[in-house]
Amino acid sequence: MLFFRRIANKGFCNTIQRDEFCNVSTKITDMIGMNLYKQPNHPLGILSNSIKTFFLNDSTPKSQINAKDTFKIYDSLSPIVDVKDCFKDLLVEDSHETMSPKNTYFINKNHVLRTHMTTHDVDLLKKGEEAFISIGDVYRRDSIDATHYPVFHQVDGVRLYKNQNKEVVFNELKFCLEQLIKSIIKQDIQMRWIDAYFPFTDPSAELEILYDNKWLEILGCGVLRDGVLKNANINPELNTAWAFGLGLERLAMTLFNIPDIRLFWSKDKRFLKQFKQNEITKFKSYSKFPTCFKDFSFYINNDFQENDLHELIRSIAGDIVEEVKLKDTFKTKEGKESQCYRVNFRHMDKSLTNEEINILQFKIREGIVNDLKLELR
Ligand code: DAH
Repeated sequence: MLFFRRIANKGFCNTIQRDEFCNVSTKITDMIGMNLYKQPNHPLGILSNSIKTFFLNDSTPKSQINAKDTFKIYDSLSPIVDVKDCFKDLLVEDSHETMSPKNTYFINKNHVLRTHMTTHDVDLLKKGEEAFISIGDVYRRDSIDATHYPVFHQVDGVRLYKNQNKEVVFNELKFCLEQLIKSIIKQDIQMRWIDAYFPFTDPSAELEILYDNKWLEILGCGVLRDGVLKNANINPELNTAWAFGLGLERLAMTLFNIPDIRLFWSKDKRFLKQFKQNEITKFKSYSKFPTCFKDFSFYINNDFQENDLHELIRSIAGDIVEEVKLKDTFKTKEGKESQCYRVNFRHMDKSLTNEEINILQFKIREGIVNDLKLELR
């Protein structure tokens, strides 16, 4: 984990002390506070606003049973959160893969960049909120390609009921979410419910919509487990709550026809000028700047995690990397395993010069040796 300390030491989040668990580079922390979901003419802002409108303007189906109809909106909660809020209060086991620094950005042993907006649910319930949604940026260490980005956006919602059984609450949840989706998409659309598992809900389900002849999973939801309510100091014998979490990027990519997740971060007017408040319109692609690739081959060791390579490359080249893909792998006679990764470089807003690419290539090779402690081939 050493190399992240070197990178992160460049200074960020001064109030939270980094320690040897820190695996966050400034390329990531620089994105905190960009608030794309608050820009009214940005696809993420357009979706976020239409979700807010649904929950604020009484368009939510009135609960037939004992629950609040007015939702509070939280859209400015800090993404730097306690491990306890992000995982433990939600009954995520220590051994769960999301708790691994391989998948999650740790600032120190006890603080992470939230991996989902569900993080805030217990705390808000504890504060006495009974119906609320939270919107914000979430962070995951992930591979690099057209549909994955280390920062994306989610909406989470919770509604608490008095003296109701779980089945009734689950049905209300499903009805409410179907109405929500119809109000976002503004057209009748085919939907289906799929059984799912989440550590914090039971029963749980996922909602899929049929769009352009493809089933697309857009949200997860369920009835909060008794243990989660207890963690919020709520008596589960007298109370039941539904919760849901919806990712904005995937839905926006589908509805606005956006082919690459990095476009959301583009400052190019040809992207930004295309969208208007409250309207879902199809993205018209414009000519892209040329792409260029470089291959990196090295012998791996037992500590090697592919996500660390992706992170290293991101920390050096940021958004200029379009994709990192394992191209081939082989074993030497001595049993050493060699892997070759192809890295595609393309800037969203300008042409890259050979010199710029060469510098990036040099730095990545240097990082593979010095930071990942691997032997180049
Ligand atoms: N937090 C989950 C995720 O990021 C999504 C989710 C599922 C949120 C079920 C919820 C829920 O509130 O009830 O994948």
